Amino acid sequence: MIAIYGPAGVGKTTLAAALAQRLDVPVRHCGVALKRAAEVAGVRAADATRDLHTLVDEETRAFARTVLPLGVVEGRYLRFVLAGLPYVRFIQLRCAGAVRADRRSRSDQGAVASEDAADAKLIAELYAPHDPGAASEDWLQLDSTNTSSADLVTLIQNTLQRL
Ligand SMILES: Nc1ncnc2c1ncn2[C@@H]1O[C@H](COP(=O)(O)OP(=O)(O)O)[C@@H](O)[C@H]1O
Ligand SMILES: [Mg+2]
Repeated sequence: MIAIYGPAGVGKTTLAAALAQRLDVPVRHCGVALKRAAEVAGVRAADATRDLHTLVDEETRAFARTVLPLGVVEGRYLRFVLAGLPYVRFIQLRCAGAVRADRRSRSDQGAVASEDAADAKLIAELYAPHDPGAASEDWLQLDSTNTSSADLVTLIQNTLQRL
């Protein structure tokens, strides 16, 4: 299982979709799952309760356990959600701040600063208290600032083939 994590706007959704297509494996987009769960509960994703996050996280862990040998999952909190699960390779995706904010505002109209602040609060309250730390070290750290998602896919694929 390849788990791509990082903050809003770094290119997780784009990269995960392209990678899953290239590898021909199932993909799970946690942001989409959260949005759906929030819709059912009658709230906006940004207002999702901790219980709603926990529910989506359970589904994400089930996906990671079920879809073997290979699948792709992407989400902001995966380093915590999938920590300690066997067979998970973490990819931390980064992007320079200004570029990330610009891309994000074009696609989602969301301001990354306020999303980052809300994420920091959620991580501190919901995830960090149970963080097993070293059990979830990164397999790769990638930067999308100057690299297309297609090139990142090739890089990941080449790294997989060298295993
Ligand atoms: N490697 C990249 N190079 C240039 N633009 C990108 C890249 N990856 C994603 N984008 C663009 O940046 C925006 C945010 O990407 P997205 O995949 O939705 O990020 P995330 O899921 O991390 O929030 C989208 O408009 C997308 O087309
Ligand atoms: Mg996304």
